Amino acid sequence: MEKTRIPPTSFQTLALWISLMAVSIGTADCARRSVQLPGSSRDGGVMRPFKYAATSCRAKTASLTDFGGVGDGKTSNTKAFQAAVAHLAQFAGGGGGGMLYVPAGRWLTGPFNLTNSFTLFLHRDAVILATQDMSEWPVIDPLPSYGRGRDHAGGRYSSLIGGSNLTDVIITGDNGTIDGQGAFWWQKFHGGKLKYTRGYLIELLHTDQIFISNLTLLNSPAWNIHPVYSSNIVISGITILAPVRSPNTDGINPDSCSHVRIEDCYIVSGDDCVAIKSGWDEYGIAVGMPSQHIIIRRLTCISPTSAVIALGSEMSGGIQDVRAEDITAIDSESGVRIKTAVGRGAYVKDIFVRGMNLNTMKWVFWMTGSYKSHPDNKYDPNAIPVVKGISYSDVVATDVTQAARLEGISNAPFTGICISNVTVQLAAKAKKQSWTCTDVEGVSKGVSPTPCASLPDQGAGAEPCPFPTDRLPIDDIVFEECSYTS
Ligand SMILES: *[C@@H]1O[C@H](CO)[C@@H](O)[C@H](O)[C@H]1NC(C)=O
Ligand SMILES: *[C@@H]1O[C@H](CO)[C@@H](O)[C@H](O)[C@H]1NC(C)=O
Ligand SMILES: *[C@@H]1O[C@H](CO)[C@@H](O)[C@H](O)[C@H]1NC(C)=O
Ligand SMILES: *[C@@H]1O[C@H](CO)[C@@H](O)[C@H](O)[C@H]1NC(C)=O
Ligand SMILES: *[C@@H]1O[C@H](CO)[C@@H](O)[C@H](O)[C@H]1NC(C)=O
Repeated sequence: MEKTRIPPTSFQTLALWISLMAVSIGTADCARRSVQLPGSSRDGGVMRPFKYAATSCRAKTASLTDFGGVGDGKTSNTKAFQAAVAHLAQFAGGGGGGMLYVPAGRWLTGPFNLTNSFTLFLHRDAVILATQDMSEWPVIDPLPSYGRGRDHAGGRYSSLIGGSNLTDVIITGDNGTIDGQGAFWWQKFHGGKLKYTRGYLIELLHTDQIFISNLTLLNSPAWNIHPVYSSNIVISGITILAPVRSPNTDGINPDSCSHVRIEDCYIVSGDDCVAIKSGWDEYGIAVGMPSQHIIIRRLTCISPTSAVIALGSEMSGGIQDVRAEDITAIDSESGVRIKTAVGRGAYVKDIFVRGMNLNTMKWVFWMTGSYKSHPDNKYDPNAIPVVKGISYSDVVATDVTQAARLEGISNAPFTGICISNVTVQLAAKAKKQSWTCTDVEGVSKGVSPTPCASLPDQGAGAEPCPFPTDRLPIDDIVFEECSYTS
């Protein structure tokens, strides 16, 4: 068969047209960049001045390229990141702190740790890419409050960006990206090919003053943001994206943390969007560090297989004083879920959620007292968790399979549950029973469809469910306007 011949003239026209298009796209791109963020990119080796908001500003700034960084998406920058952080560490303390600037480019790297009084700043076209070279991922000890890795007994792979025993750590940028390239790990995990627990994208231990803002996190191997044993944490303006079937790609998991403020985040994930935790069974009980004084507001979530906000299941250090407001979700399994089990011990108490707008949910409210997962069989059968003082109000939900499924623990019911001003519109294929309740006690007011008998309606004259009126100190943290001037 004879091949179709393109006449030379029309071929040349096509080629010319393609090259013109490339030029015009290139020009438009440059124009867009220089209009939106004058000089935040490195042009001709010169870092231009730029401004950003953060909880503290830094005296010294260096670029990753000053340490041999190559942003070609192929060269490993692990040594460059580590050398940069080591260099900037000298400005902690009296030196005014250091900032590492990650320019536009694709910066492949293995895990690296941050330091004190330190800012990691990502240009909007910067992508930190997690390496898939497993020899670059150190295996570290399990967390004391877990006793083992979550996927496997024993150690676990390091997180991509880590740090411990630090003060004043900022990770921010003009919506730059950290990409965990997780598909590699998810496949190995599903295939049973991993010896150790997968690493997280960001994990900071024993750190005071953490500020993470204005970033996009993609395809983490497992959890995305994991502060542990830490305090005074603000997480703001973060976009987290992972396929909705990816395993354990939780969004933000404060774990044994106090004074946390999570706001204006958009999360699409294969597991809980926000999960508050505090250790696992006897290990969490021994460490005994609660998660408390936590604000969550203006969260948007898509999580078809999991919760918008989860409390647990690891809660053995206790969880108390959580205040969530202004929550939006579509296509998620449950709105708020409490997960615990005999053996966990501790408590989940003083939980307040006000203002949820939900669309396409299996359950608006879900509580589970028999969550089946234990680190080992050494857990204490007498360690019964206490769940009390749970207050949910001002909720509108549409296309819902079942309004609520509330299952406490027999002989240790979940008490002080209060649900008010909730309108649930059931889906065409909803369950016949819109509420199922066992081992729970509480009250309701203005809830439709009518809740189960264990949550009797208090009548129109009753008070709505409580929500704290005091202000938490973490709300008084203000962002400074910082600027880099060469
Ligand atoms: C995040 O970026 C927006 C612009 O995209 C800016 O207005 C805002 O101040 C930034 N916030 C923080 C906390 O850096
Ligand atoms: C980072 O810090 C952790 C905890 O202190 C440590 O286990 C790990 O080895 C460090 N990783 C690197 C790459 O230095
Ligand atoms: C970090 O702080 C914790 C708690 O104070 C302490 O137990 C641990 O030994 C410290 N780790 C390092 C590496 O200094
Ligand atoms: C940040 O980037 C993500 C991914 O491209 C995008 O969905 C999001 O809208 C961006 N956020 C801002 C504040 O520009
Ligand atoms: C009930 O909740 C809706 C939002 O879902 C809110 O607009 C309304 O003000 C609430 N009503 C009362 C009496 O608080």
